[in-house]
Order: sequence, then C-alpha cells, then structure tokens
Amino acid sequence: MSPIPVAVLVSGAGTNLQALLDALRDSPAARVTRVVASRADAGALERARRAGVSTLVLAHPDDPGEVVTAIGDARLVVLAGYLKRIPTGAIARLRWRLINIHPALLPAFGGPGMYGRRVHEAVLASGAALTGATVHYVDEEYDRGPIIAQWPVPVRRDDTPDTLAARVLEVEHQLLPQAVVELARLGVPEGPVRLVASGGAFVVADQPSVRFGAQG
Ligand code: GRF
Repeated sequence: MSPIPVAVLVSGAGTNLQALLDALRDSPAARVTRVVASRADAGALERARRAGVSTLVLAHPDDPGEVVTAIGDARLVVLAGYLKRIPTGAIARLRWRLINIHPALLPAFGGPGMYGRRVHEAVLASGAALTGATVHYVDEEYDRGPIIAQWPVPVRRDDTPDTLAARVLEVEHQLLPQAVVELARLGVPEGPVRLVASGGAFVVADQPSVRFGAQG
C-alpha cells in the first residue's frame, strides 16, 4: 500500500510541519504531499519548498471551494499553526479527515482567541499544574471537536509563557507525527478515533487489549 497523502495547512513558522516532514519522509503509512498557507509570508512555506513538497497560498481562505480544491487528493488534512477559520462548508466535506494541534490540554485553554502565547499565559495565570498538547478533529465549534490524543506537560513554578511554550512545542513535535501515522495506519477511519500512549506508542484507546491503571 502506498503512503496516505497528507495536506498540511499553515500560517506561521511551521515547526510542526517540519516535524511531520521529518517523521513521514520514509514512512510507509503517510506522506506530506502538499502544504497550503493562508499567507504568502508563512515561514512554513520555505520548509515545504526545501523538502520538495508542493505549496499553495490561498487567495480566499474563507472560500470553502477554494480550500477543498487546495487540499486536492489528500486523505488527511492537518492544521499545524493555521490561524484562519476553516469555512463551514469545507469542514462538512472533510469530516473525520481534518485534524488540528493545540498547545494545551483541551477542552481547557481553547476557543476563539486562544492561540500562541495567550494559551500559555492563561495556563500560568490559572495556576494549573499540568498543561500539554492536544490533537483533535476539527468541527464547527472552535477547538471543541473530539479529542484524538493528548500528551501532558508539567507546569514548573518558575515557568514563563516562553519557557512553557517551548516545552509544549517539543511535545507537539512528537505527538502530531505519531497521531498522523496512527490514523493513516488505521486507514483514516470514517468516525472518531481516540489514541492513548501505551507501551511507548499511541494505540486505539477503546480496544479491549488496552488496559489502564494498576493491573493484577
Ligand atoms: C503550535 O503551538 C500549534 O499547537 C498551534 O500553533 C503553533 C504553531 O507553531 N496551533 P508552528 O508554526 O508549527 O511552529
């Protein structure tokens, strides 16, 4: 079977895109085949070009037809630092194929306006001892689609928004490629999948073979 084509939508520096490009380069499961940007000055575009992946800049990110056309034949679509809202018409056509990475443990610290540094500022202001990264399906409600996988990151007492962001980003770079590979290996199912870390890998959570907590 050939690798599942993956489109990555970006608006910024593209360090998550880079993690995907690196992890999927030789993967039998999935391959980044195109990168779509909401803006021409996104640093992510240069990363895609260096990797020899085709790029496209949306002229009208609010146009569902343009978004769907840009995605082309990709079976899985990853929002990796994509700062525009996906138009509702496009979300409906990409159901269970459109995923996002968020730098906190959703449903906490998500929603409109919760992006970038603001997320980590809010986590620190709340006094939470734990934050992390979440990969979830994109649906019509901002940051509320079903969760696919999460990875916790402890908050240190001396953290600043920048130190916390850096530690969460490192985790994002591990979580996102693993979630993408696992979804691809499952054939991008037509319904929600939940993955959990078990034995050093992400596996489907609701399989009878996956056990949690003390065993005996
Ligand atoms: C990441 O923190 C991601 O979780 C959020 O936007 C940031 C993108 O960073 N959605 P990068 O462009 O991948 O470096």
